[in-house]
Amino acid sequence: MKTDTAGSPAPTPASALQPSRTRCFSGIQPSGRPHLGNYLGAISNYVALQDRYESIYCIVDLHALTSVHEPDRLRRQTLEMAAALLALGLDPARCTLFVQSHRPEVTELMWLFATVTPVSWLQRTPTYKEKRQNQPEDVNHGLLTYPVLQAADIVLYKASVVPVGRDQAAHLELSREIARAFNNRYGPTFPEPQAAFTEAPVVMGTDGVRKMSKSIGNTIEILADEATIRRQVMSMVTDTLRIRRTDPGHPERCNVCQLHRSFGDDFEAIWDGERTARTGCVDTKRLLADRIIARFAEARERYAELMASPATVDRILDEGAERARPIAQATIAEVRERMGLR
Ligand code: AMP
Ligand code: TRP
Repeated sequence: MKTDTAGSPAPTPASALQPSRTRCFSGIQPSGRPHLGNYLGAISNYVALQDRYESIYCIVDLHALTSVHEPDRLRRQTLEMAAALLALGLDPARCTLFVQSHRPEVTELMWLFATVTPVSWLQRTPTYKEKRQNQPEDVNHGLLTYPVLQAADIVLYKASVVPVGRDQAAHLELSREIARAFNNRYGPTFPEPQAAFTEAPVVMGTDGVRKMSKSIGNTIEILADEATIRRQVMSMVTDTLRIRRTDPGHPERCNVCQLHRSFGDDFEAIWDGERTARTGCVDTKRLLADRIIARFAEARERYAELMASPATVDRILDEGAERARPIAQATIAEVRERMGLR
């Protein structure tokens, strides 16, 4: 794990800002089955950090309402994401997993934080500008307030480590600024959360030029059936400088070669094969598809089992929300007191 500041994650201050064990928190949108970018950029770290920190993970359905307006789709995708996270290694015995809207304290904290957050900070957020372009007919207020809710998510649990992909760096910076603004006005209350990145903080899509993203449709769906995974991997754009099979390859520019880093210690040998034209791009893609299919075979089975038993998933989510309750309520009580609410 890496953090975006030097050295180890947020040093524990001597004051009582911190819970007794360093807390880790992250949120993920209920976008259905996660893709390879979600996994390599964030979920693999959720799993790894379960044993290192007291870990809390949340499916952010309230955030999703800024773009998803079909109730059945939201419900289905929330279940799918929960089943996927469990299938990929989140263990309810080692972490807390719940649905954001099941802990309503976060919406109260969001309002309280809104009063310490200058509008200009929100207007200059890159994701807000992007969303305004992507959904010009639906620039709802939630899009602007999105990062305030995200700060409330993290800070409600006084988390200091936040595993995310690089595209969340600006949101994390804003969460720190909001926590700092609160601490400056009302006295030291919250630790400043730090992002924790993996070795693959930005995974490019199958087009090789844009970040892997469901909305672009350039994903590799790790929990799909084998044929889909194979088709998606084989459709990947490779080294555009290599016209003929006999041309030497440029693995440092090839997304397929870069992804091999995450699927075996032998990526240097694979790169050598490309450089010397011993192997072709098709061979390298076929090998990658085999490895992705093998790596997620067990998770795919477990995912199917969980989707066949939604009551099991719901029970885990309910227990997670209950486990989070006392922490959330304690923070709200402290904040109300500090802000002068009777
Ligand atoms: P989202 O689906 O936008 O909620 O993303 C869930 C998590 O996956 C966030 O921490 C993102 O930063 C991360 N993520 C999404 N796409 C990518 C990508 N292409 N590469 C690396 N991380 C990603
Ligand atoms: N904005 C994040 C994303 O799109 C999701 C998110 C919501 C989140 N709340 C969070 C991430 C708190 C980390 C911590 O991926």
